Amino acid sequence: MNDVKNTHPVYTIKDFNLWYGETQALKNISLEIPEKQVTAIIGPSGCGKSTFIKTLNRMVELIPSVKMEGSIHYKNEDIFKPNAKVESLRTEVGMVFQKPNPFPKSIYDNIAYGPRIHGIKDKKTLDEVVEKSLKGAALWEEVKDRLNENAFGLSGGQQQRLCIARAMAVEPEVILMDEPTSALDPLSTAKVEELIHELKNDYSIIIVTHNMQQAARISDKTAFFLNGEVIEFDATEKMYSNPHDKRTDDYISGKFG
Ligand SMILES: Nc1ncnc2c1ncn2[C@@H]1O[C@H](COP(=O)(O)OP(=O)(O)OP(=O)(O)O)[C@@H](O)[C@H]1O
Ligand SMILES: [Mg+2]
Repeated sequence: MNDVKNTHPVYTIKDFNLWYGETQALKNISLEIPEKQVTAIIGPSGCGKSTFIKTLNRMVELIPSVKMEGSIHYKNEDIFKPNAKVESLRTEVGMVFQKPNPFPKSIYDNIAYGPRIHGIKDKKTLDEVVEKSLKGAALWEEVKDRLNENAFGLSGGQQQRLCIARAMAVEPEVILMDEPTSALDPLSTAKVEELIHELKNDYSIIIVTHNMQQAARISDKTAFFLNGEVIEFDATEKMYSNPHDKRTDDYISGKFG
């Protein structure tokens, strides 16, 4: 586990700044996020973790007061260039939120939703996508006999795996996860962590977590944010065993946060 391979960056962030009105939430962020690895974002409440990952699929701009400066490249493409296609970026970059948010639809229709929007109508193709996505999210065995039941009938942990399956159904390259296990019990958390570990063979995963042990267990690299700045970004093992900055050391050893 935690083997840090040398891969191409999936994101290259340079001198990036973001404000909500007058309040600066991200300050001079420069990072290269590796492809097909798990990158953890840690740091105390309000330090800019959610803002940062919502910038990566340009969701943050849905908030009108947002102003930005600097550059973000996704696979060598400037995501803010004037003719950049936001919709195709959001197709390639899926997102899973803190609270499971299935649609008020059947399990099947939750997964088929994205592919249908992309024009897939053939029942057999949709059946295959649904099965493959649910298998990929380690949920198939638990739900294969109740695909037409409402997703709200699933447990919280099952709903979160459904949301991961839904994100995977449109075959993204990247999955952003904002504290995906904070609403889950330990067993469901363990299942989602196991899943994340398997997913990194196929996806680049960026996960926000408040749980230090979780970041240490599942991530290859970790970025420590504090007051909108990246204090340290390194291989997770290195950061946890021998942090460079005293503030990182204090945070991961639980002195604040
Ligand atoms: N929509 C918004 N409008 C104005 N300010 C905002 C908005 N969203 C976030 N902020 C501010 O930006 C800063 C960073 O918030 P953000 O949600 O990114 O933090 P976070 O690290 O994800 O925190 P948490 O761990 O509590 O989820 C905070 O000061 C927050 O108050
Ligand atoms: Mg947050």
